[in-house]
Amino acid sequence: MDYIQLNNGVKMPILGFGVYQITDLEECEKAVSEAIDVGYRLIDTAQAYSNETAVGNAIKKSGIPRKEFFITTKLWISNSGYENAKKSLDESLENLQTDYIDLVLIHQPFGDYYGTYRALEDYYKKGKIKAIGVSNFYPDRLIDLLSFNEIVPAVNQVETHPFNQQIEAHGIMEKYGVQINSWAPFCEGMDNIFENEVLKEIGEKYDKTVAQVILRWLIQRSVVVIPKSVHKERIEENFDVFDFELSEEDMETIKSLDCGESKFFSHYDPEIVEWFMTMK
Ligand SMILES: NC(=O)c1ccc[n+]([C@@H]2O[C@H](COP(=O)([O-])OP(=O)(O)OC[C@H]3O[C@@H](n4cnc5c(N)ncnc54)[C@H](OP(=O)(O)O)[C@@H]3O)[C@@H](O)[C@H]2O)c1
Repeated sequence: MDYIQLNNGVKMPILGFGVYQITDLEECEKAVSEAIDVGYRLIDTAQAYSNETAVGNAIKKSGIPRKEFFITTKLWISNSGYENAKKSLDESLENLQTDYIDLVLIHQPFGDYYGTYRALEDYYKKGKIKAIGVSNFYPDRLIDLLSFNEIVPAVNQVETHPFNQQIEAHGIMEKYGVQINSWAPFCEGMDNIFENEVLKEIGEKYDKTVAQVILRWLIQRSVVVIPKSVHKERIEENFDVFDFELSEEDMETIKSLDCGESKFFSHYDPEIVEWFMTMK
């Protein structure tokens, strides 16, 4: 496993396992247990996924020392604000059955996220969180937050895949020492990504699948990746990306797939913001 060193010295695996949309707790525990068997040590969950307990169970039952894992969770909008955030962090610690969380992200740039950030800073100083960061904070929100707080976010998790490569936003994160973490590396399978001819052709050269090419391309851009799957063979496939290297030419070719905008939604669209406000 390769690691990235965050701006506070904490080491984060460059490849992890995401559990968004695995809402059935038994299925989630099983998938995380399989991922752990394969070798994943970074698990990415969130309060909003309602599966922190399943993640905690799988980690506990693995028998592997807690310090070998890197657990990320995210604080939801309805838990924003200083007091609410602290209460919800205590709940996350309990659900995950752990004394500390490796990384806590503010899930969305909405609500009283300044109050939330101060709660994260407090828990960080107490050692209950080893690194703090944000998610879906595009350059304007990111620069604003880091300009008026003591601790620079260690990570910003944003939609990043071949069709939305975040080239400019990544540059700004690098400027401020914020590690980029991709969500939806496979664009959740949209736009027939696994059948994309450009990616397939590149994969054939290395005897690798489209999924492996995408993960390798992100890793070579120093992007932390957290692919999700509930299928053991895919969980294995997505982990098997450290025995080849894409040429500069192939990296450039993949660059040409960038559409420069989200395939999901815009955080600047009023209707989308209204939709976020309805989510508990
Ligand atoms: N911060 C945020 O706002 C945010 C938003 C979205 C996601 N995330 C995080 O990012 C993680 C990854 O994103 P995601 O789950 O949305 O999408 P994703 O990882 O881009 O795609 C997952 C989809 O790809 C399929 N898949 C996985 N590996 C495959 C392979 N090797 N071949 C073919 N199909 C494959 C999965 O199917 P099966 O499961 O059926 O195998 C699933 O349908 C999430 O789990 C979550 O932890 C964060």
